[in-house]
Amino acid sequence: MVLAAGQGTRMRSSLPKVLHKVGGRTMLDHVLVAARTLSPASISIVVGHKAESVKAHLGGTEVQFALQEPQLGTAHALRQVEPLLRGRQGTLVLLSGDVPRLQGATLAGLVRAHQEAGAAATVLTAVVERPYGYGRIVRTDGQIARIVEERDASPAERQIRETNSGIYAFDLEPLFEALNQVASQNAQGEYYLTDLVAIYRRRKLPVATLVTDDVEQIRGINSRTELAEVSRIVRQTKNEELMAAGVTLVDPSTTYIDPQVEIGADTVIHPGVTIEGTTRIGAACEIQGGVRIADSEIGARVSINNFCVIVGARIADGASVGPFAHLRQGTELGEAAKVGNFVELKKTSLGAGSKASHLSYLGDATIGDRVNIGAGTITCNYDGTHKHQTIIEDDAFIGSDSQLIAPVRVGKGAFIGAGSSITDDVPAGALGIARGRQANLEGWAERKKG
Ligand code: UD1
Ligand code: CA
Repeated sequence: MVLAAGQGTRMRSSLPKVLHKVGGRTMLDHVLVAARTLSPASISIVVGHKAESVKAHLGGTEVQFALQEPQLGTAHALRQVEPLLRGRQGTLVLLSGDVPRLQGATLAGLVRAHQEAGAAATVLTAVVERPYGYGRIVRTDGQIARIVEERDASPAERQIRETNSGIYAFDLEPLFEALNQVASQNAQGEYYLTDLVAIYRRRKLPVATLVTDDVEQIRGINSRTELAEVSRIVRQTKNEELMAAGVTLVDPSTTYIDPQVEIGADTVIHPGVTIEGTTRIGAACEIQGGVRIADSEIGARVSINNFCVIVGARIADGASVGPFAHLRQGTELGEAAKVGNFVELKKTSLGAGSKASHLSYLGDATIGDRVNIGAGTITCNYDGTHKHQTIIEDDAFIGSDSQLIAPVRVGKGAFIGAGSSITDDVPAGALGIARGRQANLEGWAERKKG
């Protein structure tokens, strides 16, 4: 089960804490990824503060919800799942929705340690440099005796550097009955789950610990500062992975790549680049500074010049984009296609070897191979109510500053005269020209002066 009902006061956010993102994914999703590696019989999530938005976020997944209202502390939160687990036996693994770096292997280790020790409860702990804010593990004769929260700790206890990760394995059998004994006599007036340790010890129930040496994995996020710190670690880990796999990051400290992104060897990424979501990039590409790419598929040897925004696009091998291009959802660029500066594409495919080099809007268009889109070409795709399609067949040539008023089709190899407003289909091989005729009035300037 996962605790995710708390308000996250220290975040000062209208968004529930567990829905804040780390490395492109919500904290809660990270925790669920780790949880699922155990193939548990069920996953329950305690929701409370902004419960509806947390539930909506997880809509359609296998998780069960328990509502904690009001939120009276972590022990009170755990009590809320009792109805869901009534009559069950076995091991309950308790996770915290705000500890997103935890890895499945560590959880498996916790379960193993718990079962091997035959413990009633096992606490995952770590010895850290800066224990501030965490519960401290108080030991007597080497055995865990209790956990004391920062706010309730004596100055001597605050010196203890072994901290509680907030992650535990419990034998279900004695758990819920013991939980009823937790009181709220502490600095926050809350029911602390951590009090269970002392309660178990008093009842002679065996409590074990597993001390992990990967302290980064169990970092909790309570504030925006901690969110930024953990995000930095996630990024750094990803950057190191990519570099080890042959990707050049010119300045890793200003490179922001989400964990799921894939990038081929010999691709060079310049400073200030952000690559998000499910993006995949091939080998030997060059991505210049200031580019943002999200959920896109990019082939090999593609060059993306500075300051492009590319979202939901597919770009084939050898294409080149930018600088200052905007490729929106549903853009498809064929092999060696070229999109130049100040060009925007949306739901548009531009075929192999085709070019839109300057100052264009191409929306809802299907453009064939080897087409030249002149500077300033605009597909007028919207009539105020509906969107309409523009089709431009192979080898067509669209003269500069033309408007293609959709729905409209330009046939194979057709030419459009520069400055045309094209309202009717242009047959293959034809010249379509639609603009006011020019008149030259001889001597006009002289006459005006006189
Ligand atoms: C908790 C532990 C602390 C541990 C730390 C590790 C307690 C009392 N303290 O402190 O020993 O070192 O985690 O990160 O358990 N939550 C609820 N309902 C509530 C209160 C909290 O669901 O009523 C959830 C929160 O959403 C959060 C988790 O429980 O996901 C932990 O709560 P939080 O307030 O962050 O506890 P910490 O002060 O970090
Ligand atoms: Ca916390």
